[in-house]
Amino acid sequence: MSTKMKAAYYEAFGSPEEKPVKVGELPKPSAGEGEVLIRVKGAGVNPVDAYTVRGMLKDAFPCKFPLIPGWDVAGVVEETGHAARRFKKGDAVFAYARRPEIQHGTFAEYISLSEAYVAAAPASVSIEEAAGIPLVGLTAWQSLFDAGKLEAGQTVLIIGASGGVGSVAIQLAKNAGAKVIAVASSANHAFMQELGADACIDYHTADIAVDIEKAAGGPLDLIYDCSRGDVLTKTHQLLKQGGYLVSITNSKPERRDDVKFQYVFVEPNAPQLEELARLTDAGKLKIHVSKTYPLNEAADALQQIETLHTKGKIVIRM
Ligand SMILES: NC(=O)c1ccc[n+]([C@@H]2O[C@H](COP(=O)([O-])OP(=O)(O)OC[C@H]3O[C@@H](n4cnc5c(N)ncnc54)[C@H](OP(=O)(O)O)[C@@H]3O)[C@@H](O)[C@H]2O)c1
Repeated sequence: MSTKMKAAYYEAFGSPEEKPVKVGELPKPSAGEGEVLIRVKGAGVNPVDAYTVRGMLKDAFPCKFPLIPGWDVAGVVEETGHAARRFKKGDAVFAYARRPEIQHGTFAEYISLSEAYVAAAPASVSIEEAAGIPLVGLTAWQSLFDAGKLEAGQTVLIIGASGGVGSVAIQLAKNAGAKVIAVASSANHAFMQELGADACIDYHTADIAVDIEKAAGGPLDLIYDCSRGDVLTKTHQLLKQGGYLVSITNSKPERRDDVKFQYVFVEPNAPQLEELARLTDAGKLKIHVSKTYPLNEAADALQQIETLHTKGKIVIRM
């Protein structure tokens, strides 16, 4: 059996123009104690993968080279390590594979992961769709429910609602019985309506706060900021006193003192992944994959995701 695998990797940080990401052969991992070796079939691409290539995470996490990008995986269990008993060879699984040290990512033929990170993949969707769920699904779940305490009957404003995280957040919030005001460019309004948004607002609008207030019909219970634009600054006054403000992009946004603020950095969580798989198989969560890339084009996928204008998800297909 080959001891090598094909992988996208880089040996120094760099900008996309410097093209640090190449594709070649690296040692194939094996399943250690409590681990499963996954044959990767699809790897979701996220903005953080591009930031990591630029070296923007190096002060937060130890990074080691050669570094394989990618934190999302859907695939098949190839081998189980000592005392790993939750899965068997051939099981279809998916995972959010962020570990304390960044080196062994998912843009490769194989990844070995603690089975604590892994859940059975949804059975009813393609590998591409399953690969697009973990990071954005967990982020939206942990933001809306763990941090934002969203409940039925409440109104949530989602800023950046047509991308990976936002498109899942719309659906999770609607499933929970909330009213959803979704912000993205007008080109994505039909898409967000299909996902369930009650009102769609363009962030280019001059009086965006007026439009949002009109659409909400009252103060907001939760603002969920998934964008790097200035909409939050223009709208945080619409949040009710004691309401929740959750950001995944800015740990210190301009905000009032009378609201509950939390910056969320998504954590691996297999039970929540199982719930996301259940919702997917029940037809209550759909991942829109706008483009797939072969592994050889990983650098192009990273350039696309860095635009912060991706509709739904993009995925690398092995
Ligand atoms: N902290 C965490 O754990 C965590 C987890 C996941 C993601 N993130 C971060 O969250 C952000 C969103 O991630 P993603 O994967 O959803 O990205 P994405 O797929 O690129 O989506 C970006 C979204 O932002 C919208 N947008 C772009 N410019 C905007 C502006 N000026 N004002 C308002 N909305 C704007 C886009 O809409 P249009 O295409 O219509 O412009 C799109 O809906 C990224 O910065 C990412 O790094 C953080």
